[in-house]
Amino acid sequence: MEVIKVRRSIRKFSKEAISEENLDKLVRAGMQAPTATNQQANCFYIVRKRENLDILGDKLQNARMLKDANAAIVVLINKNKLNKPTMKSQDAASATTNILLEATYLGIGSCWCGIYPNVERMDIIREVLKLEEDFIPFSIIALGYPENENQFYFIDRYDEAKVFRD
Ligand SMILES: Cc1cc2nc3c(=O)[nH]c(=O)nc-3n(C[C@H](O)[C@H](O)[C@H](O)COP(=O)(O)O)c2cc1C
Repeated sequence: MEVIKVRRSIRKFSKEAISEENLDKLVRAGMQAPTATNQQANCFYIVRKRENLDILGDKLQNARMLKDANAAIVVLINKNKLNKPTMKSQDAASATTNILLEATYLGIGSCWCGIYPNVERMDIIREVLKLEEDFIPFSIIALGYPENENQFYFIDRYDEAKVFRD
């Protein structure tokens, strides 16, 4: 699939706004991800307010690009929906990847910023977005149209030494 090859972490964005329709497509892509025992405990918090993006970009050292982003999606885990708690990270990572790939398909730049299991980062997200205790913030995905052209390009990472065969 071409989007797998050309997806890049994009950290500089233009001022062009992402439509509600496209944000909806991104969330839908996240919800299509596989989950352990089909538990579907992932939830999605769409951040659109400039103030919230700026505060998060200021407070999260690893996500400065949020100050430049047009929107963000926080992938959350609803603790109450977990019947396989040990698999929650895999589930949320799977949803995060789906969103990155859908964004690439739509020509939207994205960057996965790691939150869980860093307690300090989790607390910042909780405080700024006023999340209830039931939700674990797993990742925040910065979103925006790339500032420059040709930001989606292929880096061939194939390494025969990492492949084992029987
Ligand atoms: C679990 C995870 C956490 C990441 N956290 C951050 C982050 O906090 N800030 C950031 O700028 N990039 C983050 N990234 C993006 C990586 O830096 C990026 O994927 C890597 O450098 C490879 O570049 P590429 O995405 O363009 O292929 C994260 C990626 C993953 C998978």
